[in-house]
Parts: sequence; structure tokens; C-alpha cells
Amino acid sequence: MEIFLDTANIEEIKKGASLGIISGVTTNPSLIAREGRDLKEVVMEIAGLIDGPISAEVISLEYEGMVKEAEELSKLHPNITIKIPMTWDGVRAVKTLSQKGIKTNVTLVFSANQALLAALAGATFVSPFVGRLDDTGHDGVYLIEEIKAIYENYNFKTKIIAASIRHPLHVTQVAKAGADIATVPFKVLTQMFAHPQTKEGIEKFLADWQAMKR
Ligand code: G3P
Repeated sequence: MEIFLDTANIEEIKKGASLGIISGVTTNPSLIAREGRDLKEVVMEIAGLIDGPISAEVISLEYEGMVKEAEELSKLHPNITIKIPMTWDGVRAVKTLSQKGIKTNVTLVFSANQALLAALAGATFVSPFVGRLDDTGHDGVYLIEEIKAIYENYNFKTKIIAASIRHPLHVTQVAKAGADIATVPFKVLTQMFAHPQTKEGIEKFLADWQAMKR
């Protein structure tokens, strides 16, 4: 499973990129608004830091506007992937964009049927929101399992991005469920490194080493 960063913060992306294991970035209008910057400017800066898909979301809700925005955004950089909300118009737009060879990421997916529609439209990626589904008392990880089974049954090429990841256990769970990618906030990426026994082990090794040198 690949790891993308779910952020529009350039400092976080720079730090993540330095690891060499982050293969993409996802943004959404809330994340861009948090930075208080222009969408196009931010995605271009991200494209200079990460050599992989960078999701930029359209704001239009109707088909024509979505396609127009998508065409403009996709011209910015070959790695730009157009994030389209899971609606009737969104699915129509994804079908048109996939026929034009423009990469898409269908977002705000909360059911297996929505993921099926996205795949039928030729979406490059589908983004089920694990954490937000958990918030409503449903099982976000189980949704990843369902989508994986459906995509395997029919050999759909659409890749599953487990989104709305809230903690390190989600990452383990969606990896086991067969997600192609987990897009994680920077905080979750840092939490994935942590284990108290690793810290203790390093301290013990160093202490033993110093004692031997005395
Ligand atoms: O980018 C979409 C998704 O990852 C949002 O996460 O935490 O706002 O539900 P969250």
C-alpha cells in the first residue's frame, strides 16, 4: 500500500518528501482554505516537491463547471488529479474526463454502490472517507473491504484511496483491507513511527555503548 499525505501545508509536504516514501498528495477545499492560499499556486508548489499524483478538487457542482475547472487544473501539471464529488453530475464529469485522459479522484464516497459508480465512470481513484463514516457509527474499514471485493470481482482498475484517516490503527486496518493507498494527515504519519519500545531500545543501546567506552 502506498502512502499519500492529506495536507496542503508546504512545510509538512517538504518534511514528508524528505523521507522518500510518500508517493502523492491529496488536498480538499477545507485544507486549501486552512492555508489561506490560492489553489493553483499551492498545487504547483506541491508538484515541485512530490513526484506523484496531486489531488485538486473542483468547486462547481454542475457538470459543465466541473469539466471546465478540471480541464484548467489538469493543464497546470501532468501529476494533477481532479477530485470530483460523488454526485450525479460528478459521475458524468468523471466519465467525460476519463475519455479525455484526465486523471480523476472521486471524493466523498461513503458506500460501496458509490464506489461502483465511480469505477464504471472510469475514475483513476476513489476516496472512501473512513473516519467520517466511523463518526456516524458505521464501519469505515469495512467499506474499504467491500469496495476491494467489488473491484476485484470485476477487475476494475480504479485505485482505492482510504481517506479521512484519523489515527495509526486506521492505516494498519485499511492496509489489511487491501486499500491501494492511505492518504494520511502529517500527524498520523509521525504517529506511525512511534513505539515506546523502539525509544526504550535506542536509549538502552546507547547507554550500554557509553558504559563500555568508560
Ligand atoms: O481529503 C479528504 C479527507 O481525507 C478528509 O478527512 O479528517 O476531514 O474527515 P477528514
